[in-house]
Amino acid sequence: MAQKLVTPNEGRKVSKTPGHWVLAQLGKKVLRPGGKELTQKMLHALDITSSDRVIEFAPGMGYTARLCLEKHPQTYTAIEQNEQAVEIVRSYLNGVEQECKVGNAQQTGLEAEVASVVYGEAMLTMQSDNRKNEIIAEACRVLAAGGRYGIHELCIVPDDIDLGTMRAIQREISETIQHPAKPVTPSEWKQLMEDNGFEIEFEAIAPMHLLEPKRMIDDEGILGLLKIVKNLLIRPEARARVVGMRKIFRKHRSHLAAITLVAKKKNH
Ligand SMILES: C[S@@+](CC[C@H](N)C(=O)[O-])C[C@H]1O[C@@H](n2cnc3c(N)ncnc32)[C@H](O)[C@@H]1O
Repeated sequence: MAQKLVTPNEGRKVSKTPGHWVLAQLGKKVLRPGGKELTQKMLHALDITSSDRVIEFAPGMGYTARLCLEKHPQTYTAIEQNEQAVEIVRSYLNGVEQECKVGNAQQTGLEAEVASVVYGEAMLTMQSDNRKNEIIAEACRVLAAGGRYGIHELCIVPDDIDLGTMRAIQREISETIQHPAKPVTPSEWKQLMEDNGFEIEFEAIAPMHLLEPKRMIDDEGILGLLKIVKNLLIRPEARARVVGMRKIFRKHRSHLAAITLVAKKKNH
């Protein structure tokens, strides 16, 4: 009998559930700040083909995993720390060369230089400075020379924003999503990549419109959006969380954006 898939964090108190899992429980599939459009730009720059060995960090509900698998990479390996999410991603996989493992992106346990492409979305923002470095260094370790690494994250603009404003935004976002979040500026994201052995090849920025109606239609489709709206109507606690998150995103809209970077592993 087919196993029933459970959305991550189901059963947890809604007021304490990390924002991305509240959205997932409402039916939202796209959980990254620049939406489908920025994901597609990242994938285009990564240029995945049937000869690539791909590793995805933190696939979540598997949205990009499916787009990647449409390109028939030689191998696809995902590393995700949430067990329910792992089960959901596994339901999209078939073939011996496709797997999703429960694990941590900072210590994947994979052999060095096994991949030609690594990517991860909306997963570095939620890490401390140290952990961001560890994860990017791990991406570098598992990539063969010349391999490509794509990220898609939240950022704070402009590059010369004053530290006080930046810290206040980081604090308010962490509070509203009920999870630590430390988005940094575009130049800091690039520096993190460069410090860990990468050279930036592609960069794109999009507005942070995760919870805005037009983006929701673009990302989820009309039917997907209707399902989310129905769930919002019958789940007042989740509705309060979404309204709270959108309020903070709107409050800081002039300082928030989504960024994707695609970088190449430098030859030593
Ligand atoms: C905001 S969701 C993004 C999911 C998906 N990448 C997307 O963009 O739709 C963050 C995901 O990162 C995973 N995650 C966070 N830290 C991780 C880590 N250190 N290693 C592996 N997965 C991690 C979470 O379990 C969750 O699935």
